[in-house]
Amino acid sequence: MVDNLAGEKHAKRRIEFRNKLKESTIFYHDSDLIRRIVENLLINAIEVTDSDEQISVVLTEDNGDIHLTISDEGPGMTQSFIKHKLFRPFETTKKQGVGIGMYVTREMVKAHHGELEITSKRGKGTTMDIRFRKKEERVEV
Ligand SMILES: Nc1ncnc2c1ncn2[C@@H]1O[C@H](COP(=O)(O)OP(=O)(O)OP(=O)(O)O)[C@@H](O)[C@H]1O
Ligand SMILES: [Mg+2]
Repeated sequence: MVDNLAGEKHAKRRIEFRNKLKESTIFYHDSDLIRRIVENLLINAIEVTDSDEQISVVLTEDNGDIHLTISDEGPGMTQSFIKHKLFRPFETTKKQGVGIGMYVTREMVKAHHGELEITSKRGKGTTMDIRFRKKEERVEV
């Protein structure tokens, strides 16, 4: 997957994938949806970082909930940017960007009953953490 995403342009990036789930954990998910979520967040991380800045994609478990966490050491974002611009369609800071990646990602996370939490600091980097709840705790609306 990294190869597909990274391509020539982003060759030799420091992307670390870690699966810390217990072997007994069964994670019911729509793999196509998860894949698209990871792709969107990872491409964003790749696009904002320099080649010497670390990116990580980690799967962990907390009380039975599954966390998919994507972190980068890129430029970070202000709280105001996150609140007002990040998810707004067609809002982009990139020359070639469309500005729909995060909007679509949030919709996909919602469709999967997940919760997206963003921690970001200017000059330090960004962590996007998605929690997929245990099945029985879902509230269908
Ligand atoms: N990990 C990140 N670190 C810093 N800024 C980010 C990060 N992810 C997104 N952004 C900022 O949020 C903006 C919106 O992101 P989004 O994914 O919605 O659109 P895009 O990447 O610009 O274009 P598209 O995803 O449609 O190709 C980006 O242009 C960028 O400025
Ligand atoms: Mg994007």
